[in-house]
Amino acid sequence: MATKPKIAVFASGNGSNFQAIADAIQAGKLDAELVLAITDRPAAFVVERARRLGIESFSFVPSQYDSKQLYEEMLKEKLFEHGVEWLVLAGYMRLIGPVLLDAFENRIINIHPSVLPAFPGKDAIGQTLAAGAEKAGVTVHYVDAGMDTGSIIAQQSFPIAGRKREAVEAEIHKIEHELYPATLQRLFKHSFI
Ligand code: GAR
Repeated sequence: MATKPKIAVFASGNGSNFQAIADAIQAGKLDAELVLAITDRPAAFVVERARRLGIESFSFVPSQYDSKQLYEEMLKEKLFEHGVEWLVLAGYMRLIGPVLLDAFENRIINIHPSVLPAFPGKDAIGQTLAAGAEKAGVTVHYVDAGMDTGSIIAQQSFPIAGRKREAVEAEIHKIEHELYPATLQRLFKHSFI
């Protein structure tokens, strides 16, 4: 049997996508080893989720470092120590800098709650609704130096006419929790998409 890719999930908040990925691994739907949860917010619920699942987590506070370069050097060392091969961003609300982009070239993936290239950046769902868009959706993409600008791997959308924010958000999360593990599985099985 081929060895499973070792992944680290980066999250800044609730961690429901982290949970979905861990659940998919446990259910045998995603052949990967989730070795580390990384957060830039030590109080984030993702830390508690990791504890419950018995997955190691690592928290850091970016403002305690003089630069992004310095904290990314520290993260790189940590990730290498754990043999991590892929970085999976799941609600990690920071741009990745050159240190990690170079160390994990073409091996950093993100999920974003809009149909990119529309509505990159923060509060994509709010942006979608404020613009009066006909559809909302989810994109899984490679990470480059820009804000949600990397090559698109998978997308799914749905009509939102007349729907309230809560309902749209719930549908987005439902899609994310299926689409992210399934896309990672495809990606790990074929190194191109
Ligand atoms: C998800 O909806 C994800 O797409 C979004 O943050 C949420 C995290 O939820 N990411 C971004 O907006 C990145 N620009 P979770 O913590 O429950 O997984």
